Amino acid sequence: MTEPDPTTKAAGAVGRTLLDSMGANIVEVEVMPKRPTAGAAKGSGAGLIVTIDGPAGTGKSTVARLLAKRLGVEFLDTGAMYRAAAAVAIDAGIGMGAPDKIVALVASQDMHFEWESDPPELVCGGKSMMKRIREADVTRIVSPVASIPGLRRDMVRKQRAIARAHPRLVTEGRDQGSVVFPDADVKFYLDASAQVRSRRRFEQLVAQGTIKGEPAEERALLQEIVARDLSDSTRRDGPLICPEDAVRIDTSDMTLEQVVDELEKRVRARVR
Ligand code: DC
Repeated sequence: MTEPDPTTKAAGAVGRTLLDSMGANIVEVEVMPKRPTAGAAKGSGAGLIVTIDGPAGTGKSTVARLLAKRLGVEFLDTGAMYRAAAAVAIDAGIGMGAPDKIVALVASQDMHFEWESDPPELVCGGKSMMKRIREADVTRIVSPVASIPGLRRDMVRKQRAIARAHPRLVTEGRDQGSVVFPDADVKFYLDASAQVRSRRRFEQLVAQGTIKGEPAEERALLQEIVARDLSDSTRRDGPLICPEDAVRIDTSDMTLEQVVDELEKRVRARVR
């Protein structure tokens, strides 16, 4: 993982980078049919697994979704699955003191994506989880929930089953290239300094009106990101690591468009 950059990639530079591009300047991509026959990387009959791992705040989800569209394949957000597990636990009133109960409850739920939606809608126990999984209480507890070994085993099984049903996939998370799909066709690891990532999050929350934009709020976000990085990268099962055979890209000074362009170029070069 990239250490926090002591020189701090200045806020001005960040303004031109990834998060900025997620707003008004968002890159227009051609929306391709789910399973195109022409123009897509690797013939449509063949499977294509592209993994994108990395810490929070690197823009992985947005990049993965746009890359999947450009390649004409599906997009899997595995963080959403861990978030849904955390939401299910909170809503059932089960705390971290009873990990086995969390594992059993989550395993008993029908968790699936509705693939017709964009992004695919995550449904759990018959309810859409799309709003709930982004709420603050879920974000606070998701990393400890994601460190429960039995829960990770369940998620890995579910993710592999999804890939069997949807063999042309860009999947993003923390362990996709290292644990879930070690034989993936192309693996990426996106990174950025903690300061850049917390600044992006800060700008996003200010734009949403969720926070006021005070320096103390930005400091708190930085602390939260550093704590989550530590928790995600030091757990025993499926820790956040850069797989040896992954292409590592530091997005600190790149726009969203540049990142997606770079990944698309590398996928097409590898699997043509
Ligand atoms: O990418 P995200 O912020 O939505 O992920 C939420 C949490 O889930 C994060 O703390 C890391 C964890 N996670 C994981 O452990 N393994 C994955 N494959 C994806 C996410």
